[in-house]
Amino acid sequence: MTLFRLDASILPATSAGAEIADIIEAEWTAARPDAPIVRRHLGTDPLPADAWAHATTAGGVPETERTPAQHDAVALAGALADEIRAADAAVLAVPLYNFGVSQHFKTWIDLVLAGAGPTDPLLKGTPTVLIATLGGGYGPGTPREGWDHSTPYLERILRDVWQADLTVVKRELTLARTTPAMADLRDLADEHHARALTEARDSARTLLRA
Ligand SMILES: Cc1cc2nc3c(=O)[nH]c(=O)nc-3n(C[C@H](O)[C@H](O)[C@H](O)COP(=O)(O)O)c2cc1C
Repeated sequence: MTLFRLDASILPATSAGAEIADIIEAEWTAARPDAPIVRRHLGTDPLPADAWAHATTAGGVPETERTPAQHDAVALAGALADEIRAADAAVLAVPLYNFGVSQHFKTWIDLVLAGAGPTDPLLKGTPTVLIATLGGGYGPGTPREGWDHSTPYLERILRDVWQADLTVVKRELTLARTTPAMADLRDLADEHHARALTEARDSARTLLRA
């Protein structure tokens, strides 16, 4: 039984996503002390941004004619796909950056798709928790409703393409405590925080069904 944990925060020391993932990991470890945890931190160890193009263009080149960069990229893409395919459970903590998908996480998705092919259900039936952390608020009726262009895309890939058994733990308003302009939102932010921690414990139970 292997848990795959991926983090993507560029600020790991203060990461709200890591706080939630740590809770899930602790519950996993308490129940399965001997089960391995495979970690990948895209914030501290980003994947090379040009690897995806090399892996993709290698597809049209006979193996003997590929450049060293194409060989390396194909091997990396395959290893990343194998890593997630081997998981019995997965937790992925992904921040919202610039109203979109973290570029480090998008690079990872692109490489996994290059390694596995565009429709391989890599996580078919695998209990998976996506932790989405967002500095602002994007709920129904808020001024920026619809501006979160990350979470729906991540759900599309994880649930529909890779066919994970997906649970989403979303924590909004993470910047309220430290942003003076968001002072009026701090009580609401605290509610979001508390709810996310509760959902983390609940979602850990779904992982342990693996
Ligand atoms: C470079 C950068 C860009 C960000 N862009 C947005 C944004 O567009 N919208 C938003 O709501 N929060 C934004 N944030 C705030 C993050 O979403 C928020 O801090 C979240 O908690 C990050 O996840 P983490 O705490 O796990 O690192 C941004 C943060 C950084 C560092």
